[in-house]
Amino acid sequence: MTTRLDLQPIEAIECDALIVVAFEGQKGERFGDVTAELYESKEFSGKPLEFALLHRPAGLKARRLLLVGGGKPEKFDSAALRKTTGAAFRHLKAKSARDIAILLDSGFSGAEHVASAVEGAILGDYEPDIHKSDKKDVKVVDQFTVAVPGGDPALEAARKRGQIIAESQNLTRELVNEPANRMTPSVLAARAQAMAAQQNLECEVLDQDRMKQLGMGSLLGVAMGSAEPPAMIVIRYKPAAPASTHLGLVGKGVTFDSGGLSIKPAEGMEKMKYDMAGGAAMIGAMQAIAQLQPPIAVTAIIPAVENMTGSRAQRPGDIVTSLSGKTIEVLNTDAEGRLILADALTYARRLGCTHLVDAATLTGAIVVALGHIYVGLFSSDDGLRDRVMAAAAAEGEKMWQMPLDEDYKDYLKSAFADLPNIGGRWGGAITAATFLKEFADSTPWVHLDIAGTAWLDDPKPHLSKGPSGVGVRTFVRLATGW
Ligand code: BES
Ligand code: MN
Ligand code: ZN
Repeated sequence: MTTRLDLQPIEAIECDALIVVAFEGQKGERFGDVTAELYESKEFSGKPLEFALLHRPAGLKARRLLLVGGGKPEKFDSAALRKTTGAAFRHLKAKSARDIAILLDSGFSGAEHVASAVEGAILGDYEPDIHKSDKKDVKVVDQFTVAVPGGDPALEAARKRGQIIAESQNLTRELVNEPANRMTPSVLAARAQAMAAQQNLECEVLDQDRMKQLGMGSLLGVAMGSAEPPAMIVIRYKPAAPASTHLGLVGKGVTFDSGGLSIKPAEGMEKMKYDMAGGAAMIGAMQAIAQLQPPIAVTAIIPAVENMTGSRAQRPGDIVTSLSGKTIEVLNTDAEGRLILADALTYARRLGCTHLVDAATLTGAIVVALGHIYVGLFSSDDGLRDRVMAAAAAEGEKMWQMPLDEDYKDYLKSAFADLPNIGGRWGGAITAATFLKEFADSTPWVHLDIAGTAWLDDPKPHLSKGPSGVGVRTFVRLATGW
C-alpha cells in the first residue's frame, strides 16, 4: 500500500471511500442535510468508533463517505486519531475498498496528526494470515491518502515519518508472527542482517563459540537443550556527529519457550513463539532509527535462543557463571529470559552503552498484575524513566511503573550461588526485574515487561489479532527526541 498527502479542497479528493471523523454533540453541521439527518435520527451520534456509510455523497468526487465517531472533541488526541483511522480503515477494507482517504481538518491537521493517521492505516492494514494458502478472499488496499485541504506542503515529512514508523512496527509484528519452526535464532539473526544491510546499519552476530570465549555462561546454559544454535545479534546505528549518549536497546529473543525441563503445560504452549517479541521490537525500532537519524548512538543487543528439553538441556539446580562473573543457580529452567538478558545487559555495558532499555516477554506475573493493557515498567534511574514514560505517552503506548526497591532483594537468595534465577511465589514480575538489575548494575536502565501486551488474543477494531508490535514507537521516539 502506498500512502500520499493531498492538499486539494475536499470536493476534489477522488477515492473509493473518504473517512471523516465526526464528534459527539456536533449535530452534523459538516456535510449539510444528510449528516444532520443522521444525528437527528440518532442513527449516528459521534460516539467512539460508530460508523455511518453514505454512498455517492453529493458534491464530492469520493464514491463513499464514511463517518466515524471520534467521541468528545476535547479528548481527541493523535493517539485517538491513530486508533480511529485504523478502525475506519479496517471497516472499509473489509468492504473491499482499495483506495481510501481520510480528511484531516478543524484542529487536528498538524504534523503529529498526519503521522498518526498514516500509522493508523498501515498498522490497520497488517494481517497475520500469510501462511494461509487460499488467497481468494484476501483484500488489498492499494492507496491511502491523507487529505489536508489547504495544508502546508511541509506535512509531507510527517507522512513519511508515519510510514517509516508504522512499517517498522509491522516488521516487528511479522517477525513475531512467524512460528518457531520458521523463526529460529539463526533465522532471526538473518532477518536482522537483511534489515541492517538494507538500511546501511552495522550488524554483527556472535555465534556459540564466540559467546563461549567471552564467557556468556548464563545465556549458553539456556541454549543447551536445543539443537538450534544461539545467536547474539548486535545492530549499530551511529549518528553523523559523535554523541556522548549511547542508548542500548536489549530485547529478549527466545524463539520458542517450552520451559525447558521445568516444562510448561501443553495448553497455550503454542503461544510461546512470541517469546522473542522484545528482540523483534528492537529490530523494528532500528529500522526506523536508521531512516530518521537521531542525534545519539543506538545499539540493539538481541540474545536469541530456543528454550528446549534436549538431552543436553540444563537441569534445575545447575549453577552457571554469567559474563559478569556472578554465579547463578538455575532453580527453574522456565525463568530463562532473565538468564539470557543477564549476559546481554553485561555485554551492552561492555560495548559502552550509557543508557539501557530492555523489553522482554518476561513473566506471567505481569499479566496477572496489569492484564493486557499496560506494559510493566521498572527502572533504576528516574531521568531515563521519565524519558521513556514521556515517549510512551506521546505514542499512546500505555506503561505503568512498578516498584523496584532494595527490599525485594530478600526474595532472591541462593544457598549455593551468588543468586538464584527465581524468587518465591509472590511478586514474580518484580523479582524478575530485581534479578536483571544486578546485571544492569550502575548504568541507568529501564526494563519493560511486555508479556501481557505483545500479543492480542482477540482482534481490535483498529488491529488484527496476533502480534501488537508494542514498544517500537516508544523506542523510536525515545531516540529521535533525545
Ligand atoms: N516467556 C515466559 C513468560 C510469559 C508468560 C510470556 C506468559 C508470555 C505469556 C517466561 O520465560 C516464563 O516462563 N516465566 C515464568 C517465570 C517463573 C518460572 C518464575 C512465569 O512467568 O511463569
Ligand atoms: Mn520461560
Ligand atoms: Zn520465556
